[in-house]
Amino acid sequence: MIDSIESIVREAGRTVRERHITSITTKGTKDNIVTSADIETEAFLKKRLTGLIPGSVFIGEEGDENKLPEKGYGWIVDPIDGTANFSRGIPMVGISVALFKDGEPYIGVVYNPFTDTLFRAETGKGAFRNGVPMHVSDRPLENSLFCTAWCTYHKELSPLCFRVSERLYPICEDIRRTGTAACELSMLAAGSVDLYFEINLSPWDYAAALICVKEAGGVFGRIDGDMTYDAPGPVLAANCEENLEFLRMIVAEERDRGE
Ligand code: IPD
Ligand code: CA
Ligand code: CA
Repeated sequence: MIDSIESIVREAGRTVRERHITSITTKGTKDNIVTSADIETEAFLKKRLTGLIPGSVFIGEEGDENKLPEKGYGWIVDPIDGTANFSRGIPMVGISVALFKDGEPYIGVVYNPFTDTLFRAETGKGAFRNGVPMHVSDRPLENSLFCTAWCTYHKELSPLCFRVSERLYPICEDIRRTGTAACELSMLAAGSVDLYFEINLSPWDYAAALICVKEAGGVFGRIDGDMTYDAPGPVLAANCEENLEFLRMIVAEERDRGE
């Protein structure tokens, strides 16, 4: 199954790499753009993935709202994670495909067609980058690279995000914001970055990459509890429990402080 998913994702990647964009519009806020390629790539993935598992439920960023089924198979897909990068020709983009079985995370594939980097994992079977087993880092907090963002599409939440960055910046080594949550979380799985926080991600941004994080030995959750896949919310992830708990403490303190 995972090999078939990988080849469908790679096929989508060949088209994304051509950057054939005929329209750019916005949705929700002025900063949340959607290109014709986002819509076309999602249509392609929906057709091919539901063709692979007839009767499976498809949840995609650009499609109708759907719920993961309690029994059977469900997809959670972001056709282009990093649309702002994509539309500007910045080669940091992830095609993100997660497969759930009986409501539980099962297979995750994240592919950057511009760098030809493919992350994939299957529950219980380990995680791989370009076919090579990957594992989270063992870096302590003081040497950690922290990936975060400041809530582009809901800027009313930005002050909290900036306060968290301000608290962590002197403690960690440095901060990165690459514009694709799926790739950043996959890089955490691969041990390139060590800490991750966003205040409001949608399941298609993180579902596939978190399967890789888990299989690579990493940890994640909401601010106060376990991860869920049915609604947008905060995503915290780290290379180890200790760093995750530290991040949780800072985010909770800044949330409770309010404005
Ligand atoms: C966005 C990217 C970005 C993150 C946003 C996401 P999109 O997804 O993952 O890195 O900061 O929260 O919504 O809109 O490019 O698919
Ligand atoms: Ca996204
Ligand atoms: Ca997207």
